[in-house]
Amino acid sequence: MSGLPFYVTTPIYYVNDLPHLGHAYTTIACDALARYKRMRGYDVIFLTGTDEHGQKIERKAVAEGHSPKEYVDRITAAFRDLWGELDISNDHFIRTTDAEHVRAVQQVFQKLYDAGDIYLGSYEGWYCTPCEAFFPEAQLKEGNCPDCGRPVERLQEQSYFFRLSKYGEPLLRYIEANPGFIQPASRRHEMVNFIKGGLEDLCVSRTTFKWGIPVPFAPGHVVYVWLDALTNYLTAIGYVDDPERFERYWPADVHVVGKEIVRFHSVIWPAVLMSLGLPLPKCVFGHGWWTVEGEKMSKSKGNVIKPKEYADEFGVDALRYFVLREAPFGQDADFSRMSFIYRVNADLANDLGNLLSRTTAMINKFAGGVIPAAGEWTDLDRAIPELAGETIEKAAGAFDRLDFQEGMAQVFRLVGAANKYVDEAAPWLLARTDEGRRRLGTVLYNLAESLRIATVALSPVLTRKAAEIWTQLGLDGEPSDAGWDATRWGGLAPGIRVRRGEPVFPRFDTKAEVASVSAGKPADRPADEPAPPESDLIGIEDFARVDLRVATILEAKRVSGSDKLVKIQVDLGQERRQIVAGIARHYSPEELVGKQVVVVANLKPATLRGEVSNGMLLAASTAKDPKELSVLTLDRPIASGSKVK
Ligand code: MSP
Repeated sequence: MSGLPFYVTTPIYYVNDLPHLGHAYTTIACDALARYKRMRGYDVIFLTGTDEHGQKIERKAVAEGHSPKEYVDRITAAFRDLWGELDISNDHFIRTTDAEHVRAVQQVFQKLYDAGDIYLGSYEGWYCTPCEAFFPEAQLKEGNCPDCGRPVERLQEQSYFFRLSKYGEPLLRYIEANPGFIQPASRRHEMVNFIKGGLEDLCVSRTTFKWGIPVPFAPGHVVYVWLDALTNYLTAIGYVDDPERFERYWPADVHVVGKEIVRFHSVIWPAVLMSLGLPLPKCVFGHGWWTVEGEKMSKSKGNVIKPKEYADEFGVDALRYFVLREAPFGQDADFSRMSFIYRVNADLANDLGNLLSRTTAMINKFAGGVIPAAGEWTDLDRAIPELAGETIEKAAGAFDRLDFQEGMAQVFRLVGAANKYVDEAAPWLLARTDEGRRRLGTVLYNLAESLRIATVALSPVLTRKAAEIWTQLGLDGEPSDAGWDATRWGGLAPGIRVRRGEPVFPRFDTKAEVASVSAGKPADRPADEPAPPESDLIGIEDFARVDLRVATILEAKRVSGSDKLVKIQVDLGQERRQIVAGIARHYSPEELVGKQVVVVANLKPATLRGEVSNGMLLAASTAKDPKELSVLTLDRPIASGSKVK
């Protein structure tokens, strides 16, 4: 065991249902984090598993005519299988029915009791079985569960209680002293308010059903599922019988959970740990929820996304990439088949795949298939290693903060810049002259090296395709084995023979999915096509009807779910407007900001993919090569809003 320990956990999933996109999301995120940390030299324990006790599961098993154990064995297998399919690299899979876990929970219960934090009382209140949670009357919403909206049941039974109320003040102090404990900050604020609202003691045993861990000293009582479930984080690292291992990995570095269970992890769990005299986890990160085309994902709506179906159709890498790239990790996100295909096409096929294909093709054509040594350098060439250093450092910082979206956006900045560099450096022109040839090696080397570095940095997410790119670059082994240090510039040795192969990322057909977004623009006229006949000519008064103005671009953002559209805010002198332009494949949003462009200011507004466009930006393009496009800019600066005539 070398390296500092790093312990990351997913929630353990209820086995009352088959795994879906939500479960896969948390697990893929933890997997990417675990892989990244391993590459950074950490001794990682990545834990996932299943939460198998409770009334809900007991009822479900009975309804299906099975014993609870038969039932949970079947569903647990489905989780394990899916994690295998999605390349989840968990070090351990815990089940709350494991004998070791049963012992751990019983020990924990006994210790809490011995510490005077558990007492026998009588419970009368409302219980939501699907959420396995009690609610005071005042918290119910229209008489239903405040979390899931389903009916609650009135319960009256003798139960053991945990003195949660005693821990409100220490918890608030801890949260204040450790601002990184609950993340993102919005969740921390919610929890602080919740605790300040007053904590009630928690009912931690039940007597009305049997499918649970028996309370050691009280026959007929089973341990409340959440206390049972949370203890899994201790069991898995040897709480019961491997003190050395436990000492090494506890406290956990991060419990990654969905936003709906942050409360259990950042209020109940730390209070239990305080009572046990154990240190608290360093961080509880509450991520957002996926909706599907704006709707809550639910069986009754029939819109549950099955991760395996997407992985089978588009590849595991595409699924892993999409879920982590589409939205900031702490915020909610919306899933649609269309946005999935758009993103995968735009980033993986058009950007990354294209860079690989162009680079290996040019190395074959201009360097005999062998990665050349660098030759002479210009400023344009020097900018590439510089950008690689900057983007990789930022990507690492983002991955460390679990900001997967930003981490990948940084790597794709490098990929985008490398693609642009191909166009600007134009190796095919360099190959024509002696002077050019002295620089050609530099350009080809820089392209291959940028690609190699991007591949290493993306390998925690692109578990299979990164390895394929690696092979096509002529490299041996796996990018993940190269370690994060391999993202340093210069690791690529000249002289390696590339192995150009099939496109690594196929483009998926969007035509079947969507109507064209070009909003009915007439087809372009090829440059060599003759001018229109005289009858089609317009008079100056026709031209004057078009109000052309100079606009300065203030902000630019890609339109979510589209690989073509950018949403820009422009200054038109007297007013500010939003325009949506189909230039995302040709310009990055950053490049556009600050440019002075020409817009049609009196065009009827149109809505493109849900965004209102108030005008049109002018750009030139050729019909021959749809990749060629150039936005009209001004020769020298002039006031925004100036008329163009
Ligand atoms: N068994 C408890 C957790 C105990 S942890 C000690 C539980 N299980 S669960 O099966 O309901 O899984 C909840 C987790 O699934 C969420 O925290 C989240 O990680 C994930 N998701 C379920 N649906 C989701 C979405 N629609 N979107 C994103 N993730 C969600 O709660």
